[in-house]
Amino acid sequence: MLETFQIIVQVTVIAILVSLGMAGLSLAPWVPTRKKDFERVNRCAALKKGETFIEVGCGDARVCTYIAQKNPEAKVIGIELSWVMYVLSLMQVKLSTVKNVKILHANALKFDLSDADVVYFYALHDTFNLRLKPKLLKELKKGARIVSYAFSLDDWPGKYTKDKPTKKDGAIHVYTV
Ligand SMILES: C[S@@+](CC[C@H](N)C(=O)[O-])C[C@H]1O[C@@H](n2cnc3c(N)ncnc32)[C@H](O)[C@@H]1O
Repeated sequence: MLETFQIIVQVTVIAILVSLGMAGLSLAPWVPTRKKDFERVNRCAALKKGETFIEVGCGDARVCTYIAQKNPEAKVIGIELSWVMYVLSLMQVKLSTVKNVKILHANALKFDLSDADVVYFYALHDTFNLRLKPKLLKELKKGARIVSYAFSLDDWPGKYTKDKPTKKDGAIHVYTV
């Protein structure tokens, strides 16, 4: 009985590590957006009624649920590659009781983003942002906004603004297609 329990625990721990490692090592490890910056992210996204906000690599969906609460008439979609973070996201959404959030388990680099009015991410510059950039340029509609926390997308053939209210604040990069 004890042996079976130990095996279950070991398998679970390995599954969690593999799941986190797959998303983390390859593209971007889980590091959450700072709570104090949620309002800035929401302001940068500037969602209008009926618009769709897609967070690629939504982690535990803390940003998704915040955005959904602040914009009840917007549609919020979180995409997460790690099974562990995906399950935590589902729990977070359930606990928050917001109705306008959908969490999907998928690889954001293969997910069709053409429905998005705003795409949000907090990911690594080289392994994620620069890989996502051609996809954003190809799929997003004219006028769609991209909000990138901390890391930039380098040169952008469109409108670009950087939100950094004080020296202490991290940058939030906002691009328009
Ligand atoms: C730096 S964390 C940011 C989490 C969340 N966006 C936040 O700001 O709190 C990056 C997240 O992206 C996920 N991720 C990495 N590569 C991904 C991919 N190709 N598709 C979807 N999610 C991915 C990781 O599992 C991790 O949860």
